[in-house]
Amino acid sequence: MNQIGVIYATKTSHSQRLAAAIGEAIQAKAENVTANPSPFPADLLFIVGGIYAGKSLPELINYVENLDSSQVKKVVLVTSSVSTSKRRQSDTRKVLKEKGIEVIEEITCPGSLLFLKLGRPNASDIKNVAARAKQIAENH
Ligand SMILES: Cc1cc2nc3c(=O)[nH]c(=O)nc-3n(C[C@H](O)[C@H](O)[C@H](O)COP(=O)(O)O)c2cc1C
Repeated sequence: MNQIGVIYATKTSHSQRLAAAIGEAIQAKAENVTANPSPFPADLLFIVGGIYAGKSLPELINYVENLDSSQVKKVVLVTSSVSTSKRRQSDTRKVLKEKGIEVIEEITCPGSLLFLKLGRPNASDIKNVAARAKQIAENH
């Protein structure tokens, strides 16, 4: 049976809410990287985070730097930000590439910054992200 993990790092709780919804959709526990700093084995790992001054949170990068391609096979990045780019966790992606861990998709949704996109991600954004994560988990 395939092992699927969900980890997140968060500053304003959007990633925690997204990770919890994904966890519920695929029946996996969503773990905060600060509470669970030791990577666990996963065939598929969802890495959920926001973007801050163009970057991922240092604790998320630190977690990813400790991953090993013999333990984690494939990753789905899940990113909320005000940016509309389709590729947002570029620093996380770079570390994963160096480690030979494949990123099969980046699911993106709106986040907010001060008055920019206030209220996002909303319930519908979170539902859409969880539905896409479930599809990926079922088909991987
Ligand atoms: C201090 C701060 C800086 C941010 N910088 C950016 C940024 O550079 N680019 C962007 O697209 N979004 C930026 N955002 C928006 C966040 O990426 C977005 O709200 C995300 O959903 C936050 O996730 P979190 O609640 O899990 O921390 C920033 C938000 C905060 C609070």
